[in-house]
Formats: sequence, structure tokens, C-alpha cells
Amino acid sequence: MKRQKMIKEFAHVKPEKPRRPHPVPASCGKELKRKEELLELAHAELEQIFQTAADGICIIDKEYNTLRVNQTFASLFGVNKNEVNGRKCYDEFPGLLCRTDGCPMVRIRKGVERLEYEVEKPHRDGTRIPCILTATPLRGPRGELIGIVEDFRDISGLNRVQDELRHSFEKLQKTMEGMIQTVALIIEQKDPYTAGHQKRVANLACAIAAEIGLTEDKIMGIRTSATVHDLGKIHVPAEILSKPEKLYKKEFALIEDHPQIGYEILKGIEFPWPVAQIVLQHHERLDGSGYPQGLSAEDIMLEARILGVADVVEAITSHRPYRPALGINKALEEISKNRGILYDPKVVDACLSLFAGGRFDFEENESPVRDT
Ligand SMILES: [Fe+2]
Repeated sequence: MKRQKMIKEFAHVKPEKPRRPHPVPASCGKELKRKEELLELAHAELEQIFQTAADGICIIDKEYNTLRVNQTFASLFGVNKNEVNGRKCYDEFPGLLCRTDGCPMVRIRKGVERLEYEVEKPHRDGTRIPCILTATPLRGPRGELIGIVEDFRDISGLNRVQDELRHSFEKLQKTMEGMIQTVALIIEQKDPYTAGHQKRVANLACAIAAEIGLTEDKIMGIRTSATVHDLGKIHVPAEILSKPEKLYKKEFALIEDHPQIGYEILKGIEFPWPVAQIVLQHHERLDGSGYPQGLSAEDIMLEARILGVADVVEAITSHRPYRPALGINKALEEISKNRGILYDPKVVDACLSLFAGGRFDFEENESPVRDT
């Protein structure tokens, strides 16, 4: 009875017709098509960028399967980009890092965000291509790790340029050394007593610098400076340089000008080291009694303090026009006596230690003839 009533009550309600999907307005369809076209265009652009990138790019999944490589990668390592897809990276492009803890996949799976290595990746023809390998994680839409992207930048061209530069630099360095030797010979021609003096001073000064622990570059600067340190004597008349008697005050003043003259000649040359300044200061003394500027202590460059000690030791050891050679013991006595007064104690100690240990000998490479 109750059921019948209900039927009655709803009897007037007409059954609903099945709904048809809303017809898509023509304008909406056009919009969708336009978006599809834009998407295709974006995809084509990305593909173009991927394939023609200057670097070789390889995408690998977490199971070490190669997903894609670009054209640059294929050309760089001599592989067919369609054949390697789906194959294990360690089989297709084995490198020294494969199956080691240094493998980019292993490290990125441990949480490293970016890796950069300098590697040599083998080409299919057996040659090795020097590359900078940059590896970064490839993440899915929720940030989960899907694989890695490896970017290989070919640096063989860069290495070639570096080699050429190094070669040019070495040639330039040899030319400069030749020029320095020539300048040294010019002054030695004028003053036979200086012949060999500069070279021997250079050898001792470099040995002291090495004993102190100076860098190779500083030592090169000291060698260059020492080789021409008496260049300014070109300005002094030969008869004064070789005068066997005591010099007059005026004559001595001329000799005392030689660091300044040397400086004036050298200051216009752009050496990689402060050669002109070192030459200018090589007669300065710790207590300010030197010349030409009367500099003292730390105001004198370390290179000049080293050159000063080497110069004194060599000069006392060698023959002079006004006296015979006094010998190495006399020379070491002089620097010991004036250690901390005229000469830098650290430099003196290094020099004494060299001779005491038998690690330096003026006669090792040549025998002095006549010296200043
Ligand atoms: Fe000098």
C-alpha cells in the first residue's frame, strides 16, 4: 500500500533523458589545437637544442640503461645514437669510473647534487677524448630520482691551445734568458774582473733562496736579477773598475752609482719579477748603511737581501784588482760577524748551512778566472 503511494506520488515526474555531452564550442577546439601545436613546437625546439648542443649529453636511468644520447655525444665517441638506447652505459661507453665508488650514478644515488670530473673517455676508434664530465640528477614530477644526465665537454682543443701556449712561453723564456746572458756578457766585456762574478753570485743566491724555501718563481726572479746585478757598472770607466790602487772618493762615488744606473736601464723592461728593484737594492744593508737609498731592515726586499749576501761572499772569495782572493772562510766570517747588523740573519744562516753541509761550491761548475 505504502509502495503504491510512493509510485503515485512520483508518477508525475518524467524520467530524465540521458544527458548528452556538451558540444565543444568551435572556439575551444581551436584553442586546444593551438596548445597542441605550441607543445609540439616546444618539443621540437628542445629536441633541436638537445641534439645540437655543443656538449655530448647522455641520459641514463637508475638501472644504468642508456635512455638517450645526443648527436654531439654520438660524434664525440663514435657511437650510433639509436643503437645505444636501452643498453647498459658501462658496456657501451666504459670509463675508469665504471663499477667504482666514483661512478656518477653511485654518488648521485647517495645524494650528491652535482659532480664534475676531468676524464678521458674512450672513442670507438681506441683514442681517448679528454673531457669535463658534469653529472646531475634527472628527477621525475614529484622530485624522485629517475636517473642522471651526463654532460661531456670536449677539452682536447683547450688542451692543444694550452700546450701551444706553454710552448710559446718556454720559447719566450729562453729568448729572455738569452737576452739576459747577452746583457751580462756586455758588462763583463768591459770589466774583466766581473767576468763570471754575476753568474757565480746568481748560483749562490739561488741556492740560498732554495735553502730558505722560496718558490721556484721567486728563485727564477733572483737568478735573473743576479745575472745582471752589476749592469750599472757599464757607466763606470774601465780604468776605475780595474784600478789596482785605492779609489779616490769621486771614483768610488761613480761605482756607488751602479745600482741606480742598473735600475734605470732595467726599469723599462717588463720582467715577470721586480728585477730592476732587486738590482737597485742589492747594496742596501740591514742597518741602513748601504746605498743608494739607505734603506733598512724589512724595507729592503728579501730577494735583494739574499743577493747582497751572495754578492759579498763571492766577492771576498774571488780575486780583486786591488787584492788577492781571500777565500771562503774569510767570506763566511764576514757574514757571520755582521749577521743581523748588515745582513739578514735568516739569509746568513741559510748561506752558512749550505757551505757547512757541503751543499754548495763555487767551483762545482766552473773555475773562476778573475773577478771583481
Ligand atoms: Fe754590485
